[in-house]
Amino acid sequence: IAAGINSAQAEDYPARTVTVIVPFAAGGPADITGRIVADIFSRYLGQKFVVENVGGAGGTIGALRAARAPADGYTILSGHVGTNALAAAFYPNLGYDPLKDFEPIGLSAEYPELLVVRKDFPANNLKEFVAYAKANEAKLNVGHAGLGSVSYIGCLLLHSAIGIKPAMVPFTGTAPVLNAMLGGEIDYECDPVLGTLEHVRAGTVKALAVAAKKRSPMLPDVPTSYEQGLPEFDIAPFYAVFAPSGTPKPIVEKLAEALNKGLGEEAVQKRLADLGADIIEPGRRGPKALGDLINSETTRLMPILKAAATK
Ligand code: MLT
Repeated sequence: IAAGINSAQAEDYPARTVTVIVPFAAGGPADITGRIVADIFSRYLGQKFVVENVGGAGGTIGALRAARAPADGYTILSGHVGTNALAAAFYPNLGYDPLKDFEPIGLSAEYPELLVVRKDFPANNLKEFVAYAKANEAKLNVGHAGLGSVSYIGCLLLHSAIGIKPAMVPFTGTAPVLNAMLGGEIDYECDPVLGTLEHVRAGTVKALAVAAKKRSPMLPDVPTSYEQGLPEFDIAPFYAVFAPSGTPKPIVEKLAEALNKGLGEEAVQKRLADLGADIIEPGRRGPKALGDLINSETTRLMPILKAAATK
């Protein structure tokens, strides 16, 4: 018996609808990824997995709700490197321990971030952006999905490399940031490639750089931060699934196995690749690989973020 659920109940899992908490607004990268994952679970486990968007405070409100849910497999979290590792750099009292309060299930996808500016922003490449941003720092409005979100972390790295501290405006996700940018209220954002891909292609916003060593196959004309002399702007956040800690092992294993199978499907891989994702190879799937990645990313990025935040 673990956390109020007996082994027979664990064997029968899932016997009813499962809630997948997505800790950001509908329509953005976290939501799109969470829905792909929920669909995989529904298909392999024969029950409905329903996404619930619980936005706010950089995803930490939704993550906290998942951490405190009964550890019975009926509430799980589709989080990311922010909610489940790096947010701790920005909140003295997160209310949950990203390492101790969750059972890792597995990675879902990784996407490089883009620097995206409104259509009429007076810069067409990173060099022009840096010059404009330095000269107009007080006028800039940067949109992000809250302190500790990956859009916040991406632009924090960018700003720290340039040496500016413009106004950072929080939203409940980057889908609403994009709307505000289309409306001209926000100048730019740093968002995983899938967030703005269609708008970049349609020319309703401009992508100035991909924050990676390699260009994105989905946007081959957008140069990298490295090509443009700003290698510090390098971020490809991972999105991943978690259950509250204490969730019985058979349930964790069922979820992990379903996710592994789904990620191995050609159709799922094509869908993710079309969104600009780096596909998670078999050796990086599952609870152990995710747990190791969280530990290594926390160790690698915490000092960089803490330094950037105080710069
Ligand atoms: C979103 O889906 O809104 C973003 O992925 C959240 C974030 O920037 O962390």
